[in-house]
Amino acid sequence: MSKPLSRLLRLEQTAFLARDRAAWGPHLARVRSFLGEGLQAADPARPVLILGAGSGLEVPWGLAPARTTGWDADPWSRARTILRHRRWAPWVFEDLTGGLVDLGAAARRAVAEPWSGRHRDPRTAALRLAGLVPFLHPDPAALRTWIEAHRPGTILAANVMGQFGAVAERVVEGAFGKASPWAAEAERSDPLVEALEAWTRRALEAFLETLTGSGAALWLIHDRGAAFGPGSLDLGPWADPWTAQLRGGVEGLEVSDPLTGLDVGAALRAAGRDPHRQDRWIWPLAPDQRHVVEALASRPAAG
Ligand SMILES: C[S@@+](CC[C@H](N)C(=O)[O-])C[C@H]1O[C@@H](n2cnc3c(N)ncnc32)[C@H](O)[C@@H]1O
Repeated sequence: MSKPLSRLLRLEQTAFLARDRAAWGPHLARVRSFLGEGLQAADPARPVLILGAGSGLEVPWGLAPARTTGWDADPWSRARTILRHRRWAPWVFEDLTGGLVDLGAAARRAVAEPWSGRHRDPRTAALRLAGLVPFLHPDPAALRTWIEAHRPGTILAANVMGQFGAVAERVVEGAFGKASPWAAEAERSDPLVEALEAWTRRALEAFLETLTGSGAALWLIHDRGAAFGPGSLDLGPWADPWTAQLRGGVEGLEVSDPLTGLDVGAALRAAGRDPHRQDRWIWPLAPDQRHVVEALASRPAAG
């Protein structure tokens, strides 16, 4: 993991933990209960892997079998977990997308002329980067190698998939320094936003493919969507697309999709897995920001 990326993830996690958590009680109870169920159902004779383990705010480490490994690219995540849970678990600090280093390098190449080092104007650099990103193919090789070496019986993904796109944006912003890489709001579309969305989609698909190919029981929890604004928000029956599940004053809300349209449940079924448990709820993250959280447990189909 490169130094700028480690620093970025440490700052992101520090900001996450510094948020006002007064309204998070029901969310934390549900996420801990779901992940706890996964840990208790795990075969203690086989390794268990917790991806996006963070500081362990959402992870009931007390229920984790002895052979459980944490995985999080934030360099402080393990120390924070030790402080919170008194649990000295083995840890991996690699990037789960496998693509952030290449993305950062492409962004720096787009920003500065290689022959002079002079910075291009931000709009030219952003359009140049939008042209480079489609050639980047994030590959979670470190995760695949770990899975092949350790053969975990259970893998938990603890609220990390919805972060892939947000972290990619921060990586790009970091390369642009004080200038903004994003088009002015008045412009109808932003080629860089579109290119990064497609990059995020490729990263998510490659990540899920690695997990479904692992043969492990999967307990996945992720932000299915984010709604911004003061309007009321409720959930109707499960439906596809996920926005069809939203009830209330949705018209007054700005809704965004951190999974770039990927339907995780459908991907699990398409991979021939048996989805035996699903749950959803609304997480009031901040006064005008609510996330729809999705929790899906699946096992390889018997056969
Ligand atoms: C929303 S937090 C999850 C909090 C965590 N489950 C807990 O209980 O504290 C997302 C976590 O994913 C990590 N993360 C985000 N993108 C990552 C990536 N590409 N590779 C590895 N870890 C990543 C962050 O460092 C952060 O700790």
